[in-house]
Amino acid sequence: MKTYSRLLSFARPLGRFLTPFVLTSLIASVFGVLNFTLLIPLLSILFEQVDAKKMQAFLNQPAPSITSSPTEAFNYYFAQVFQEYGKIGALQFVCGIIVLSVLLSNVFKYLSVRQLESFKARMVATLRETVFSRTIQLHLGFFSNERKGNLMSRITTDVQEVENSIANTLSAGSKEVFLLLGYIIALLSISVKLTLFAIIVIPLSGGFIATLVRRMKRDAQEGQQRLSSLVSLLDETFGGMRVVKGFVAEGFILDKFRQENEGYRQAVRSLANRRELASPFSEVMGVAVVAGILLYGGSLVLSGQSDLTAAQFIAYIAIFSQVTRPAKDISNAFSGSQRGLASGERVLELIDTQSAVQDKPGAVTLGKFSDRIAVQSVSFAYNEDTPVLRDISFELTKGKTIALVGSSGGGKSTIADLIPRFYDPTSGQIRIDGVDLRDCTMASLRAQMGIVTQESILFNDTIFNNIAFGSKATEAEVMEAARIANAHEFIMAQPDGYQTVIGDRGGKLSGGQRQRISIARAILKNPPILILDEATSALDTESEKLVQEALTRLMTNRTTLVIAHRLSTIQHADEILVVNQGRIVERGRHDELLSLDEGFYRKLSTMQSV
Ligand SMILES: Nc1ncnc2c1ncn2[C@@H]1O[C@H](COP(=O)(O)OP(=O)(O)OP(=O)(O)O)[C@@H](O)[C@H]1O
Ligand SMILES: [Mg+2]
Repeated sequence: MKTYSRLLSFARPLGRFLTPFVLTSLIASVFGVLNFTLLIPLLSILFEQVDAKKMQAFLNQPAPSITSSPTEAFNYYFAQVFQEYGKIGALQFVCGIIVLSVLLSNVFKYLSVRQLESFKARMVATLRETVFSRTIQLHLGFFSNERKGNLMSRITTDVQEVENSIANTLSAGSKEVFLLLGYIIALLSISVKLTLFAIIVIPLSGGFIATLVRRMKRDAQEGQQRLSSLVSLLDETFGGMRVVKGFVAEGFILDKFRQENEGYRQAVRSLANRRELASPFSEVMGVAVVAGILLYGGSLVLSGQSDLTAAQFIAYIAIFSQVTRPAKDISNAFSGSQRGLASGERVLELIDTQSAVQDKPGAVTLGKFSDRIAVQSVSFAYNEDTPVLRDISFELTKGKTIALVGSSGGGKSTIADLIPRFYDPTSGQIRIDGVDLRDCTMASLRAQMGIVTQESILFNDTIFNNIAFGSKATEAEVMEAARIANAHEFIMAQPDGYQTVIGDRGGKLSGGQRQRISIARAILKNPPILILDEATSALDTESEKLVQEALTRLMTNRTTLVIAHRLSTIQHADEILVVNQGRIVERGRHDELLSLDEGFYRKLSTMQSV
């Protein structure tokens, strides 16, 4: 129930939708019930049970006003018509009113469904946006721990499930409940005795359905979990199609897919089995009760023990047969909503996830970078038991370049991730111009930095948008940046120049071209601090020269932390830190490090020059 009302609250302001919805459904139900109660006069006419004396009695009552009950009003006018036009006239009158009331009932039904649809659409759109915007605020580490497909399916299919089930329960919860109440009132007004007899069944079926529902929720959770694994698998497969084909791994992937698909199938089947049980159960219960009423009520009528007329009794049965439908709809909606609730919980869980890296209250806004970044005895671990960085200290002064080198997995990229505060150190601290990174806003910190990552991160968009990337740069500025990045020429050679769309993750470009676009993006941002994670993928000499040139231009007059895989890049760095297994093992300038006899750097250097 808590989940449900939280989900509903995404359609704020609720009142604006719910009030007209409830109102129109109420009116629709009133006319819906009226249809059936009108059967009584109709049947009475057919069975010749209307006599002039009774009609006169109705007419002797005072003329109906707004306060009189609908039955009174109806009887009065019915009698009037009867007196004036006779039986056929009365028949026409009743039929006319039936048609009118069906018409009105359906007009209002339509209006209420429209309200419901717009309510639903709004709720789901807000929910989807909220979950997406909350998710992109989360810390980077969250995304390496969660499977992407899991996140995607929460934002797509889970939200969809919520939409379906909320809409169903909402319409059942209002429209059907009104209808049910209306019918019950009508039934009670015809015969209290029979109705009490019928109502006994409700707690019986209620208990049964409640047990079903609990089981169904577990199935639904299992099902959604399986579905997200499927989406993850799809994402990984389509993203890595080249490797899948190259290694002839289609069979392997297909097996994995089958396994997940089978799990999903079982969950869905078990859910459906239970769900489908609800409806035949309530139907059998309903018919059994009708039979009971026929027996009990029929014997009352036949033995003349009750003042129930045959016409009333038939109308009673007719209305009662209608009760089962909303009752069934309510129980179906209730059981169907379990899927939606399970999904809703998954969505809310994502919304409630707290970012491990957050601006603290009263965080200061950094001014322009003016002095130094100081990394002081920093240790870091992704998972508690395996430290990745141990006691790292260095200072990056304005205008200088520090290079990180070392063997793969040593922790270089991790150090680079700490500077823009993608992660917080486990111990130690990092200060920028004397301010601890945890005391300033992330936005003002990151605004100072340009980041070129180990893999070029591009989006399926135009080259222009990939370089401008959210900034309001003009075409001239983008072109200038591309020129400095040695990218202008190849961009102009593309079919649509800067407006060429580059495919998923820039798949239509070469590795070196992708890198130069990433560099152009950083040049355009023109940040005082640069963090470069040099790509490991080997480029041919020509391409490497272009990229290298672009990088050198990017680095001029900036403060740079560069992770270098080619030692040629860093011969002019002001300090080189050699990182191995999370520690700085050597530090100094290029020639100083080369002069160390048993040095790590010297070994790296001889390996590369072979
Ligand atoms: N998101 C992560 N979660 C857990 N462990 C991680 C994560 N990212 C990296 N690691 C681990 O941290 C260690 C350091 O990784 P890092 O990426 O910093 O190495 P690197 O020096 O940049 O290596 P390379 O030269 O290959 O790029 C590795 O042992 C790696 O397995
Ligand atoms: Mg790395």
